[in-house]
Amino acid sequence: HIHPVILSGGSGTRLWPLSRTSYPKQFLRLVGEQTMLQATLTRANKLPGTQAPIVICNNEHRFLIREQCEAIEITPETIYLEPAARNTAPAIALAAFHLSQSDENAVMLVLPADHVIDDQTAFAEAVQTAILVAQEGYLATFGIVPHAPETGYGYIKAGKAISLTSPTSLTPYHVQSFIEKPNQETAEDYLKEGGYTWNSGMFIFTAKRYLDELQQHRPDIYTTIEQAWQNKTEDLGFIRPGKEAFVTCPSDSIDYAIMQVTDRAAVVPAQFGWSDVGSWDSLWKISPKDADGNVSNGDIHLTGTKNSYVRSENRLVSVIGLEDVVVIETADAVLVMHKSKAQQIKEAISHCQANA
Ligand code: GDD
Ligand code: MG
Repeated sequence: HIHPVILSGGSGTRLWPLSRTSYPKQFLRLVGEQTMLQATLTRANKLPGTQAPIVICNNEHRFLIREQCEAIEITPETIYLEPAARNTAPAIALAAFHLSQSDENAVMLVLPADHVIDDQTAFAEAVQTAILVAQEGYLATFGIVPHAPETGYGYIKAGKAISLTSPTSLTPYHVQSFIEKPNQETAEDYLKEGGYTWNSGMFIFTAKRYLDELQQHRPDIYTTIEQAWQNKTEDLGFIRPGKEAFVTCPSDSIDYAIMQVTDRAAVVPAQFGWSDVGSWDSLWKISPKDADGNVSNGDIHLTGTKNSYVRSENRLVSVIGLEDVVVIETADAVLVMHKSKAQQIKEAISHCQANA
């Protein structure tokens, strides 16, 4: 049995101005028929031995979550509502405390709600191997073959192969080092050196292993979340952790808090097509393009424009004689940027907020 744990609390700032705090990217139809949250739930639901998912999100999004689950007829085991964003380490801890109540060896499959995966069979195969790895006490990750020195990902250097008691179709490896979001120069070095994969952001481990690691490496997060979990209240199928304790919890991601420091990490090589729809540039890469390499959505007119992503929500947008640009028009904000600067949006938004 596996318990999908869906992380849906991020705000997707690099897809501004379409993705907003009140309506983040995981709830948008950016690729395909379903929203990314729905695609994640569907993918997890198709795995053999899968249980009802546990969804963890911000209190503000409770109705959006419920609506999107109902639309695809998936009923979560429960939905945890966070009073504030404290990043992924505390969110995963809530699910781990929840599951260990009935079975501390429950296997958790942690899934970000903002990925595109194109091969369900290969995904299921990798999950199958990772479950066995997790049952032997490891924190399993999925390694994606890198094709560019991206700085928005974690990098995994594989060590020795792990031999498991039962045979697996894929060979898992010990993680020799895990480096979250290296700078450009370091990412380039890793690519040149070889032997590194990107961390997919999905994890498999038992509830007990995660909580033990958290207690050892981040007792501050462990203690506050344990308390928040004990003080939880339940209402209409939602669980709210105790607010007082939760908001005092330090904000940190599982990558920095656990994966970089643990010596029990393992990596399963991923054979499936994967994309983190983190930025306009990555969205351009995975979307179908016209003969000039353009992706356009909405009322758009392009002349002499190449390899660009143009999206309009309301007005007619015309782009003439430009290459590699991103133009996003929404009711109250317009973004025009060079496609290669997609990682810099965060700076632009904090500037806007500072001047608001
Ligand atoms: N419930 C909850 N609460 N979910 C959260 C929170 C939170 O406070 N913060 C983020 N999330 C969710 C996001 O919605 C997303 O689905 C997932 O957790 C990962 O968070 P991101 O903020 O998107 O992380 P990232 O993309 O910068 O980095 C992670 O993913 C990369 C691959 O996509 C890391 O794991 C990297 O190592 C990895 O390469
Ligand atoms: Mg992400």
